[in-house]
Formats: sequence, C-alpha cells, structure tokens
Amino acid sequence: MKSLLLFLLLCSTILPFAVEGAIRRYKWEVKYEYKSPDCFKKLVLTINGRSPGPTIKAQQNDTIIIELTNHMLTENVAIHWHGIRQIGTPWFDGTEGVTQCPIQPGEIFVYRFVVDRPGTYLYHAHYGMQREAGLYGMIHVGLPDGELEPYYYDYDRSIVLTDWYHKSAAQQATGLASIPFVWVGEPQSILIQGRGRFNCSTPGLESGLCNATQPECSPHVLTVVPNKTYRLRIGSLTSLAALSFEIEGHNLTVVEADGHNVEPFVVKNLFIYSGETYSVLVKADQDPKRNYWTSVKVVSRDSNTPNGLAIFNYYPNHPRRAPPTIPPVGPGWNDVAPRVAQSQATLALKGYIHPPPQTSDRVIVMLNTQNNVNGFRRWSVNNVSFTHPYTPYLIALKENLLGFSQVEPPSGYKADYDIFVVQNNTNATTSNGIHRLEFNSTVDIVLQNANTMNVNNSETHPWHLHGHDFWVLGYGAGKFDVNIDPKKYNLVNPIMKNTVAVHPYGWTALRFRADNPGVWAFHCHIESHFFMGMGVVFEEGIEKVGKLPSSIMGCGAAKFNRRP
Ligand code: C2O
Ligand code: CU
Repeated sequence: MKSLLLFLLLCSTILPFAVEGAIRRYKWEVKYEYKSPDCFKKLVLTINGRSPGPTIKAQQNDTIIIELTNHMLTENVAIHWHGIRQIGTPWFDGTEGVTQCPIQPGEIFVYRFVVDRPGTYLYHAHYGMQREAGLYGMIHVGLPDGELEPYYYDYDRSIVLTDWYHKSAAQQATGLASIPFVWVGEPQSILIQGRGRFNCSTPGLESGLCNATQPECSPHVLTVVPNKTYRLRIGSLTSLAALSFEIEGHNLTVVEADGHNVEPFVVKNLFIYSGETYSVLVKADQDPKRNYWTSVKVVSRDSNTPNGLAIFNYYPNHPRRAPPTIPPVGPGWNDVAPRVAQSQATLALKGYIHPPPQTSDRVIVMLNTQNNVNGFRRWSVNNVSFTHPYTPYLIALKENLLGFSQVEPPSGYKADYDIFVVQNNTNATTSNGIHRLEFNSTVDIVLQNANTMNVNNSETHPWHLHGHDFWVLGYGAGKFDVNIDPKKYNLVNPIMKNTVAVHPYGWTALRFRADNPGVWAFHCHIESHFFMGMGVVFEEGIEKVGKLPSSIMGCGAAKFNRRP
C-alpha cells in the first residue's frame, strides 16, 4: 500500500517533466548567391536562399533536427548553435576543429539537439571567418504551453544585427594571416535584419556593383500598433563592431539577456556586443501620426561606418514613409561609463535567480593582449595565441588520437605586467594546448583587458563560452587585484549569460560549473580576434561523453576513423 502510494506520488511529480518536446525538422541548403544587402552586390552565404537565415522557433525541450547540405563548390562549413548548451550532444556544437570536422562540399550533415532553456539564441557559421559571409540567424525558444513569461507584452518581434564588409571573408582572413599584416578595417555598413545602406555615390566604385534603388536594401520596417507593447528580441552577430541600438523617442525596458530574465531596467539606448542577445519591451506610446527612426551606431571604436537605420512604423502610416526628423546620432564612441553601467545593471530577476556556488575550486586569470608572434600580428591570452589543431579536440580526446599540444596554457600572467602601456610581449607563442577542468568543479575566470599595440588604446572584447551559461560576478576598472576584488563579487543575484563584455582597461569575472561533458571553446566573439588567436578551449568529463557519431569525423588524424 505504502509503495503504491509512493508510486502514484512519483508519477504525479515526474510525469509533467517527462513530457517530451516536439521534434522540429529543417532542411537547409547552404550556398553562395549574389545579393545586395546594403545595395552593394557581393557573394553572400545563404541558407535556402536567405541571409539572415530562417529563425528557428521552438519550445523548451523540443528537439531540433537540421539536415544541412553544403552546396558550396569550394568551401567547407560548420554551424554553431550559440547559447544552446548541447547537454549530452557535445558533438553537435558545430565548432569546426573543436567538436567536429568541417562539412565538405556536397556533403549532408545532420545536427540534432535539444533546446532545454527558453530564451533568445543565435546560430552562425563557425569555420574560419565564414560567419561574416552571411551565414547566421536566430533561435527563439518559448516556454512550454501554459507557462507565462514574468512580464507582459502583446507581440513578439526580433531583430538581428550585423556589420557588413564588401571584402570576402577569405580576403580578410588572408590579410590577417599575412606579413605584412593587413587589418580588416571598419565595416562598410551595419545591417538590421539583413538590410543596410551603403552610399552608392562613394567615389571609386566599379560601375554596376552598387544600386541604391534595389528593393533588397530598402530599410527594415517594424510595424507597430499604437499603444501596444512589443517584446523585441535583439541579437548581435557583428564581426567587429560593438553597437548601440535605439528607437527614437521610445524607452527600452530590458527584460532578458542571453536567455535569462533580467531585473527590468529602462534605457534610451541598448549597448549590445557580438554574441549577446537581449529582449527589450517597447511600448508604441508616441505620436502615432508619424514614423520613427531605429538607429544603430558603432561604439568603442572610432569608426567611420554610418549608423544603421530602420523604420519604426506606426500603423496605419505608410511603412516606407521616412520619419520627419534627423536620425539620432547615438552616444559617443569612446564613452565607456554608460556601457559599464549597463553591464552592471544587468542582474537576475527576483524569483528567477540561480544562486551561484559561493566559492570556486580554481581561478584562471586571462590577460588579453595583442602581440607579434614570429612577425605575425596576433591576439593572445597570457601571451599564448590560440591555433586550431587539424584533429578536432573532441575526437582526438575521445578516440585517443594525439594531434594537439599536451602542454596546458598558463592560468595567469606575470604580476608586474603593466596593462596601461604598449608592451613588446616578446615571449608570446602560439599553441593549441587546452585547459583540462576537473569534472563538476567550479571555475572562476577573470578576463583582464590591457593596452593594445597602439598607445592609449584598449578595446572591448565580448567573450563567449560554449556549452555553459556562467554567472557574471563583477566588472572592474584597471588591474584585477586577486586579494581585494573577489570580495566585491556579486554572489547574490548575478545574471547568467553565455557572452560577456570585457571593457577597455577593465576586468570581468565569471564563474561556471564544469558539469557538461565535452570540449568547449571560450573565445572573443569578434571574428578577426578569434581568428588571430583570442581564445582557449576547455575539456571537462571527456570520459563521460557518449559514443561519437561518425558524421563528425573524417579529418586530421581522424581521417581514417570514419565508420560506415
Ligand atoms: Cu557564437 Cu564560438 O561562437
Ligand atoms: Cu576581441
């Protein structure tokens, strides 16, 4: 009798969680097409003919199956599901060189994973600098039926932001990896939902390449009904630019960051870094007889890229009717204080706080520097610049193939390093060694910014961790003090994120549990910085990783490991 009661009790508590999510299948054809997203014609990497690619819309616990065909003639591909932790499926993280071999021309590859948390996420190519060729999009994961968000809105909309170069990813990558070094420069345009506007009367353009009357490059329009509240999911996948997003005359209430509910706060403009997502609530509460500008500005770099513009259209005004005003110029590019203030204001919503472990087992301090290594311009962590191995780590480790350095990179840097001056960093090296974390341990990472190789210059670096969300314990100015600064950590209501900014000359501290068996990249989300070595790789619980699918193999030392 007692056991029957217990059985019934167990059923009633377990069953609601045992409900399996839906299966959502997609067939994606990846290929190059000529397109003119900012009126300038160039090759764009598309999914089913589109860039940005289709938004994946799912509910918590659904299984996403993407059957990808690589229709490019001469390029490999791999797609990363940014913000999805891939619990139990580390081989479908889509990180070429880390979790899989590249998908070759003509091949079909099937990604299959569960979206286990509600929120706003991204996807993008993760092979060389291919992301900026246009292969990117958004993932929306809704709550299960019957559950409600802790805030109210009438409509759900989304916008993905990128910056756009007219040079191909291959041209840029080649320049970065050459002696002399050729920097990619500032992007030509900002794209809002894949649409931008380059000035076609720029002198020196080859004729026929730029056409300002192209419908493809007419501005993105967001139509709103007066007095309704919109949840706007905003994601950034810029290759370089940090951005400020604003809608003329409208307040933005921040409610979500990287899939976590935020204690709401109101801003005029939202700062967003590559790899981040936010949801803001915006009420259509202004004069409905006109339209308004949405303006996106490059910050943190002295950029000549014009602001990206879209139209915030009040129904029933004509969607293309230009607002009667001059678009907002946005904040000063070098005004760091409001950016730090927004970072610090982003805290977990009461009732949705995941309390962090109060102590950690290990601290890794990562000094971010620019270096010259053997004549090449590189970015480094503790003077070690990351290089990809030929055999992806997950395969190398699981199948006991060597293929990468067994020397772990340093967990800190020289105490007397001056972060405020140009250093010659003559001891910098390259390595593909990785950090091996004890399974289930709690790891603190302190990202320390420094001066670049130019005087009085320190940049913003958005660092992204694969396979986890981390707690953001704090931000500070100057050099991190290991004795004093940890006492100021927020251990009460830190937000959890997967991407976080390290501000100029500052540090950012984060904590995560090494509880997801696999091999995970952690890197600056600026495409050129990661390409130049600004990243590390963590291994945790490799012995707990299940049997690898043969589809991820076929390269490096795993070349002959492909099972039929
Ligand atoms: Cu969205 Cu490894 O990146
Ligand atoms: Cu960076």
